[in-house]
Order: sequence, then structure tokens, then C-alpha cells
Amino acid sequence: MFSKSLAAFVVLSTVLRSMPVVSTPLSDKVAELRLDPTAVDRVNSLSSDDQFVFDFLNPPAGVVTGAAGHTVTATSGTFPAVVGNGVAMTVGFFGPCGINTPHTHPRATEINFSVNGTLRAGLLTENGARFVMNELPPGSMMVFPQGAVHFEMNDGCEPAMFVAAFNSEDPGVLSVAQRFFGLPIDILAATMGGLGVQQVEGLEAMIPDNIAVGTDACLQRCGLHRPPAQPTAQHQPRVSGNAFPTGTIGSTSNITSSPQPTSSVSLNSTMISVSTNNPTSTQVSANATSSSAV
Ligand SMILES: *[C@@H]1O[C@H](CO)[C@@H](O)[C@H](O)[C@H]1NC(C)=O
Ligand SMILES: *[C@@H]1O[C@H](CO)[C@@H](O)[C@H](O)[C@H]1NC(C)=O
Repeated sequence: MFSKSLAAFVVLSTVLRSMPVVSTPLSDKVAELRLDPTAVDRVNSLSSDDQFVFDFLNPPAGVVTGAAGHTVTATSGTFPAVVGNGVAMTVGFFGPCGINTPHTHPRATEINFSVNGTLRAGLLTENGARFVMNELPPGSMMVFPQGAVHFEMNDGCEPAMFVAAFNSEDPGVLSVAQRFFGLPIDILAATMGGLGVQQVEGLEAMIPDNIAVGTDACLQRCGLHRPPAQPTAQHQPRVSGNAFPTGTIGSTSNITSSPQPTSSVSLNSTMISVSTNNPTSTQVSANATSSSAV
């Protein structure tokens, strides 16, 4: 028994090792820095001074975009200079009423600094702990413990910016709704006390990409309208283990199609001021998002 599984392991690891590794100049640099024996070697491996700088307004990568804003993330995945230093940073550009949907960072505590808007932020750390919520006026900062489910919404009618620092160079992110609704439909239905499979599918189909359009109360206060559809490309992909039961409304093609916002005129026109800062070339699409820190 044992030797059989050992043999299987050896075969599997041989296969894995012979699979092509996708290597890029960025991943090569990260690999080099991780192999450097000392911090001195790492500084010397970053041979040009500007390799210590990340420009959030013209980022090389790390952009995640939804209907109501975008985030830009500098981690070991996008910014090799953090390797060995245990820190990362995200800057968020919220449109009016934009919400950074509930998520957790599996490997980092985060501190969020509200630059120029009033943000509503909440967190839940674990079973048994109370819910914590705050309004963050410009200039204030809030702590989000490692692993806590948290969200942040721009409760204002102007674009707003926040800066989030992490005590890990690879904080990771798990978006709660986008992941939860990617579990097998029957498991979800049971978890929700026996909801119908089609109702569950209907709920999943509505989960918008981050940064999403926020609450009705904010939209009304700002004279904005919720767009009839938001992009939905950040869903958990469905594979055989979480496939839709056959014969129900959802199909894989349904899931991967992303309805684009259409008549969200007022919202989008206000949003334009947010994205002017950011060259369209950096508006990397949402498909690279499931693993980027938001
Ligand atoms: C603070 O910024 C980080 C980085 O984008 C984000 O993940 C987090 O959600 C923000 N805080 C809250 C409470 O949303
Ligand atoms: C906050 O800063 C961002 C980025 O510079 C800018 O787009 C936005 O208009 C500012 N918002 C306010 C309320 O000043």
C-alpha cells in the first residue's frame, strides 16, 4: 500500500517536473532573489535603482478592474523588490459608491489608509468575534487582522483613493462571494438550508467583479443608478468537481459570459474621472484576478 503510493508519488513528481514552467522576466527575477543567500545579494541583484520603485499610476501589472473602480497591487507577483522584505501594498481607486467586496487575505494583516474619501469599512475575524465597523475619514487608517473577512465602500459621491499595506510580500486574497458561489451547487443549496438549485445558480450569476457598484442608499444619495449588469468574470471557474448538475439553467457557457454594463450612463460618466489617471493599457482585464491581491 505504502510503496504503491510512494511509486505514484514518484511518477507524479517526475511528470510535474517535466511540465513546462512559464517563465517571464519578472518570475525569473523573483526566482533569482529567492535564491540569493543574503539581503546584500538581493540588493545587488536589483542592479538598477528604479527596480526599488513601483508606480501605482502606471503599473506594469497587478490591476484588477470592476464596474466601480480598480485596485493596483504591488506584491512579489508584480514587484520583485519586495522579496525577502515581507511587505506589499495595494492602492485602490474607487468610483462614487464603489465597494471592495468582502474578502480575506490568507497570509497578511492589512492596514488601510483612507487618502481622500470617507470609507465605510467592516470586518469579521472568526466565529464568536463581534462585527466591527467604522467610517474612515480622509487621513485615517484601520487594521484588518490576517484572515478577517472585510470590505470597504466609498460612501461618497466623488472618486476616492485608499492605500493598503500588508505584512507579507504575498498576502493573497480570497473574495468571499466570488469563491463561495463556486462551490458545488448542491452543497451551496444545502448550506443555505435547502434553497433550490436554480435559485443558487441565479444568485451566482449576479456576483459582480470587484470593485463593484455599492449600496442603494449611496447610489440614491449621489443620484446614480445601478447598472443593469456588471462584469462577472471573477467567478470561481467550474471544473468537473463543482460542475452544474446537468439539465439546469446554468451551463458552463452561461457562467463564463460576462454581461457588460450597458445603460449605466450616469455612473460611468462619473467614473471617467477615476480612470483618466490610469492609461487604458494598464487596465488589465479581470481574468487575471483570482490570484491577485485586491
Ligand atoms: C484596504 O485595501 C485593501 C487592498 O486593496 C483591500 O483589499 C481591502 O479590502 C481594503 N480594506 C477594506 C476594509 O476593504
Ligand atoms: C482622490 O484621489 C484620486 C486620485 O488622485 C482622485 O481621482 C479623486 O478625484 C480624489 N477624490 C477626492 C474626493 O478628492
